[in-house]
Amino acid sequence: MGVRFLGWGVAVPDRIVTNDELSETLDTTDEWIFERTGIHERRVGGTAKSLGVEAGRRALQDANVDPLSIDFLVLATTTPDRLIPATAPMVANELGLVAPAMDVNAACSGFMYALRTAQGLLATGATRVLVVGSENLSRWTDWNDRTMAVLLGDGAGAVVLEKTDDEGDLLSFHLGSDGSLADLLTCEHGGTIWMDGKEVFRRAVRIVVESAEHAMKDANVTADDLSLVIPHQANVRIISAACSRLGIEMERAVVVLDRFGNTSSASIPLAFDDARTNGRVKPGELALMTGFGAGMTWASAVVRWSR
Ligand code: UT7
Repeated sequence: MGVRFLGWGVAVPDRIVTNDELSETLDTTDEWIFERTGIHERRVGGTAKSLGVEAGRRALQDANVDPLSIDFLVLATTTPDRLIPATAPMVANELGLVAPAMDVNAACSGFMYALRTAQGLLATGATRVLVVGSENLSRWTDWNDRTMAVLLGDGAGAVVLEKTDDEGDLLSFHLGSDGSLADLLTCEHGGTIWMDGKEVFRRAVRIVVESAEHAMKDANVTADDLSLVIPHQANVRIISAACSRLGIEMERAVVVLDRFGNTSSASIPLAFDDARTNGRVKPGELALMTGFGAGMTWASAVVRWSR
């Protein structure tokens, strides 16, 4: 069996926080932030639930399916509204789903981990699964810490997946984790997010390249076969270094972090949405989706768009 992407949706808060605005309260500049990260501005506001509901509703509309036909909701978030309950049941309730619902936390790889989980659910009896990635990172940001505050943003993305009898859209998957690196990017209960940026950067490039190579090998494709790379949006320099090592020109990579910053498990669907809006998602063509994040965790998938 295979998995088909039926419909996508995204949601971001209205409030735009520019680099210039951050420079008013932090010892930073638009030039520094843009040169080191590629970020111009980010969205701030909402909650994991409210953004997840909006993105989920749009994905259901885009897929043109009845909420009651969804068999499972998997919601990726690293910033749940509460410790308990999980955010997923509340989102399911708002969307009118009558289905099991659970959160997945794999930090910035969360959307990819949720997709992989959904693939497993579809292989074992579910017909349709809603996957949501929703983040409220601003709540866990120390707005006085210039090393983190300039990087993060809020947002959500969602996709409806359906089981198919053919090969489907997801051709391969490669995931991994290494908990010995847990302290590189961390947030204690009641604390704020902290990162050893340089070390995460170094590891991220290596991890993305290795995991992408695994996924391409498993799908029996090469970098030349890909028309699009939809990477996690942490830093444009990470995307560019990884693409260069994979032999992929930056023109094939989707970059939206200039507008949204790093939205963790919402970043890949936000990038997909941008690519689709700009006519870059073409039936029959191949793409690589790849993410990495705290844990550390990582995940790559090769997909073929069927619609
Ligand atoms: O989503 C999951 C994972 N997240 C990531 O993948 C992020 C990975 N890391 C990064 O993207 C980069 O390491 C950062 C953007 C976080 C930092 O860039 P960098 O080029 O590694 O800078 P740095 O940490 O080496 O800092 C260079 C200098 C330091 O000053 P000194 O020690 O040279 O005097 C920092 O204190 O820049 C200073 N600095 C800033 N200056 C102005 C750090 N943050 C800022 C800032 N504005 N916001």
